Amino acid sequence: MNSNNLTLVLGAQWGDEGKGKLVDMLSENFDIAVRATGGANAGHTVKVMIKGEEKKFIFHLIPSGILYEDTTCVIGNGVVLHIPTLFQEIESLQLQGIEAVSRIKISGRATILFDFHKLSDAKQENSKGERKVGTTKRGIGPCYADKISRRGLRVCDLADWDLFKKRYKELLSWHERCFEYVHEGAEEELLLLEKMRKPLLAMMEDTAYYLNTKLSEGKNVLLEGANASILDIDHGTYPYVTSSNPSIGGAFTGTGMHPAYLGENIGVIKAYMSRVGEGPFPTELKDDLGGKIREAGGEYGSTTGRPRRCGWFDLPLTKYAIMINGFTSLNLTKLDVLGCIDEIKIAEKYFLDGNEINTLPSRVEDMARLEVKWRTFKGWLEDISECKNWENLPDAAKNYVLYLEEKLSCPIKYIGVGPRRDQMIQRD
Ligand code: GDP
Ligand code: IMO
Ligand code: MG
Repeated sequence: MNSNNLTLVLGAQWGDEGKGKLVDMLSENFDIAVRATGGANAGHTVKVMIKGEEKKFIFHLIPSGILYEDTTCVIGNGVVLHIPTLFQEIESLQLQGIEAVSRIKISGRATILFDFHKLSDAKQENSKGERKVGTTKRGIGPCYADKISRRGLRVCDLADWDLFKKRYKELLSWHERCFEYVHEGAEEELLLLEKMRKPLLAMMEDTAYYLNTKLSEGKNVLLEGANASILDIDHGTYPYVTSSNPSIGGAFTGTGMHPAYLGENIGVIKAYMSRVGEGPFPTELKDDLGGKIREAGGEYGSTTGRPRRCGWFDLPLTKYAIMINGFTSLNLTKLDVLGCIDEIKIAEKYFLDGNEINTLPSRVEDMARLEVKWRTFKGWLEDISECKNWENLPDAAKNYVLYLEEKLSCPIKYIGVGPRRDQMIQRD
């Protein structure tokens, strides 16, 4: 053991930092790519050139590593699995000439997310009024609630169809009573699941055993984080968070991999901040500048299409994420997007009631009233999207990166300058 052949890629902010792109880029050198947490609330965009044509893939459940034909993809026990979404992804890959079924392994312990979880999610959100979380309405919260309350159904339960149907109906009627609705599509959902049962069971595996065996044989495993650290149910801006642990803990509980295999642990950070959904955002730009960043960065949700809220880079928040995850290096993404701004700001420090604080306040109400000390940088006002190495970057861009690196006390090893695989500067 202790062979350092496990690498983690985790989001360090509020999601959509560009994890999919890094995972896709790194997967070439990995035997196995694995998802540990979340469900189809994740949207990971990968842009690649295939036969001279730019192709865009958005993955919600399958790890982005699937684009390399020698990579096996694992959906771990911590994932909440909406089975029709999985098959849609498989089908759309097949349409692009990518065979996926033979390379996917799914944990029998993963919890199944049903259509009615989405209905319950919507009901719950609507009943919260102004206090709604702004979820993706993919049923994530209600499905994890079922898992934690020990009434959920898991992939392995599909083995006995009659028992499964019975338990589906019991769970559905619990939801219908609790959230006061009738799921008109229940019979249809069951019919679809019955059709998908066999091909799904063929992909089922004890993935904890599989992953640890492969790690012990020296195979390289890459974990693709979904969602992000400041959306973590424990460490994020609760209650404006998701319902799993997208930070480092979830990587292990969500797969069963032995932590001693951990080698590189890469945090993905965006050169500015974005957030979809509700919740405090100390550096949010509510003016035209926020809109300018949104347009330049294409900041619209990969899953829901919602416009993402944008703001300046937040040092205290990102430092917090680095602290809880223990990142060994960082991927700074979307530096190119700031090329359209003449004066760039960073939140350097937080103050609460006039006192500097070095952590994130646990009360969301305090988070919302933080005062920020800013630092201003001269912009580079240049297109850097074709820069291939560090030396070619304009001085102002280098200064920005070096400042972040110093303050975050973590090496920035990768710098994203565009959405494509090849638009990534690597530093030693
Ligand atoms: P993820 O959820 O963390 O995988 O990120 P998303 O895919 O939801 O959002 C990131 C978006 O930024 C996607 O549209 C990517 O194609 C794009 N992207 C990733 N890295 C870069 C970069 O360095 N520059 C630019 N301009 N776009 C990037
Ligand atoms: P990726 O993997 C951005 C946000 C939602 C909402 C909150 C709770 O693409 O980075 P949920 O549906 O999980 O109950 O919603 O969490 N959220 C994300 N925001 N990127 C994501 O994933 C997200 N996953 C969840 O917008 O605010
Ligand atoms: Mg995303």
